[in-house]
Amino acid sequence: MKKTVFIALLLCAAQLAKADEGMWLPYLLGQQVYNDMVKKGLKLTKEQLYSINKSSVKDAIIIFGGGCTGEIVSNEGLIFTNHHCGYDAIATASSVENNYLKNGFYATSKQMEIPSQGLSVQFLVKVEDVTPQIEAAAKGLTGAERAAAIQKATAEITAKAVTAPYQEARISPLFKANQFLMYVYERYNDVRLVGTPPESIGKYGGDTDNWEWPRHTGDFSVFRVYTGKDGKPADYATDNVPLKPKHFLPVSIKGVKENDYAMIYGYPGGTNRYETSYGVKLKTDIENPYTVNLRDVRLKYMFEEMKKDPAVKLQLASSYAGIANYWKFFDGESKQLIKYDVYGDKQKQEAAFNTWAKGKPEYETIFPQYDALYKKWTPYAKLRVYLNEGIFGSPLAAFASSLMQVENAIAKKAGVKEALAAAEKAREAFLKKENKPSDLKILAATAMMYYNDIPKDQHPIGFYESLKKYGGLDDEKTYRTWAASVFANTMIFDDAKWKAFVAQPDNVKLQDDPAYAYASAFVKNYTSKYAPMYNQFVAGNNELGRLYLKGVIEREPTKSRYPDATFTMRLSYGTVKPYKPRDAVSYDYVTTITGVMEKYKKDDYEFDLPAKLMDLYAKKDFGQYKDIKRNDLVVGFITTNDITGGNSGSPVINGNGELIGLAFDGNYEALSHKIQFDPVLNRTICVDVRYVLWCIDKLGGATNIINELKIVK
Ligand code: ARG
Repeated sequence: MKKTVFIALLLCAAQLAKADEGMWLPYLLGQQVYNDMVKKGLKLTKEQLYSINKSSVKDAIIIFGGGCTGEIVSNEGLIFTNHHCGYDAIATASSVENNYLKNGFYATSKQMEIPSQGLSVQFLVKVEDVTPQIEAAAKGLTGAERAAAIQKATAEITAKAVTAPYQEARISPLFKANQFLMYVYERYNDVRLVGTPPESIGKYGGDTDNWEWPRHTGDFSVFRVYTGKDGKPADYATDNVPLKPKHFLPVSIKGVKENDYAMIYGYPGGTNRYETSYGVKLKTDIENPYTVNLRDVRLKYMFEEMKKDPAVKLQLASSYAGIANYWKFFDGESKQLIKYDVYGDKQKQEAAFNTWAKGKPEYETIFPQYDALYKKWTPYAKLRVYLNEGIFGSPLAAFASSLMQVENAIAKKAGVKEALAAAEKAREAFLKKENKPSDLKILAATAMMYYNDIPKDQHPIGFYESLKKYGGLDDEKTYRTWAASVFANTMIFDDAKWKAFVAQPDNVKLQDDPAYAYASAFVKNYTSKYAPMYNQFVAGNNELGRLYLKGVIEREPTKSRYPDATFTMRLSYGTVKPYKPRDAVSYDYVTTITGVMEKYKKDDYEFDLPAKLMDLYAKKDFGQYKDIKRNDLVVGFITTNDITGGNSGSPVINGNGELIGLAFDGNYEALSHKIQFDPVLNRTICVDVRYVLWCIDKLGGATNIINELKIVK
């Protein structure tokens, strides 16, 4: 009885938090939240937002690829998403001769659309609360036993939920595993590139402007999803047909004003708003700064090579962008966490919780336990960062470490063939993306950083000893010479040696390989001594987090709450609003093409522009997309919505359910948002749909795409 009451409380807890904080579950939208949306300007009914039986806005929202959102904008399966979400597909479709990343691309007919192998989209078809089943399976259990029971129940429940091969069911633990929702998706594998602006528009401002407002990026790309002739998901085939969607978003080119209603539907990946002071401290002391330092090195060596050669630029572009994006994020996140003393805030919250918890056996020991847990793990946290961001920062070492599966199979004399087949495939993919000059330098630099920065008793036994034959361990040259010899001798780069190994797999030979010896030494060092501690740390954190949140809710049962982001469909709402980033400075809520021109730097890596854009600007040829009041073309705008990574590509929707922009970033002043939402400074950065259409129409000449949309003027 108590449990059900507890869950009911969670579900109707969809009441109001401060300002526009909140990533709400659209299918459990509370009346109070809905009323507030209406007050702010929403004109749609709850049913029009989300319905199981009838078509609703939610049917136009998709998971795009592995970590983005997209939206359907025509009755022929046309998709809008961000340029940075389509980036990998665009780079993959490009060559130095047909460089779509650099020059842009528009298919003027369906035949010209480019299949994107490996890219898929997913539609949400069903959500179900499976908390009772999961709780029944986990009843009375804690720790590893509880985790195992939940895993088993999850596998059983999801297996029963799917009725077709293209369906996938996933259970998401919400409120730190106090509630479990099952989501059933349908996955479509035939997704084709329809259009993209040149990178000088789609990534205008590059990493300098990334995570910042005022922003002038045209961060959009266009794809189409195809189905089999029966309308069902199907693998790529030339005679597949465009998807007939249940719903698509009309596009409004009326423009935005201050205080306009804005609603963002999408898939925020992860937040941790109930993070403890201990977690904040670990992040700002260790995890973030060392991740940033190691990424600095990787980025520097990659960039040196990318600048020299357009082929290398294409080859490394996507990987570089991904590393750089979170390099700046982690750096900014730490700075904001420290600036706003989130650590101190958390400590105050915890002190208040402890006062309440006194005399309650279930809750009063939570924080002393956290303290012990973090004390135990912290001495090794840096080592883990150095393994993931340092040792594996070398693509060669990362690939070599994957061969441990081969070693295991050989040792067990089971599944050797399969392991080798997988390794052959992975090697092919690795070699395609491998840039030796940068990787060699990364390999040397990260091996040296590990030597210098990690306590000696955490080094793999014997490895650094073996390097001494190349010189002194404090000398950079030693590592370069060693790295050069790894590159010259590993079978990973030598087809003949590799073939011989595959024909006669043998673990002595594998362990003799210098790349494998290196990578596996570090991995084995970690898995034998530190992984068990880390797993305990994670399990303890999960267990305590669940109890903490349970206590938090019990303490203030009527307070409004939304679950942390878990890459499940959410709805956030807010308004278009300017802000003051610091004393004496005010930011407008829109940017314009005039501002794009102000930032222009000829031939710059980040701020160059296509000649045609500048021509059209000179003629003020903005067509029907012009902002009459400003006599300019609006490029971007900001809203107060609560979003995070994963929301990229999400539609920004007005009160009538029409598309007004695409969300693509968060602002620097609120980069601590994963852990604490800032009701004053938080903004979502959006590209105005009028700029998107202007780029497609006036710059790209792709009137076929414009004609496919339902434009509201
Ligand atoms: N910060 C954006 C996000 O995470 C990605 C922007 C990509 N652009 C870049 N310069 N790396 O959604």
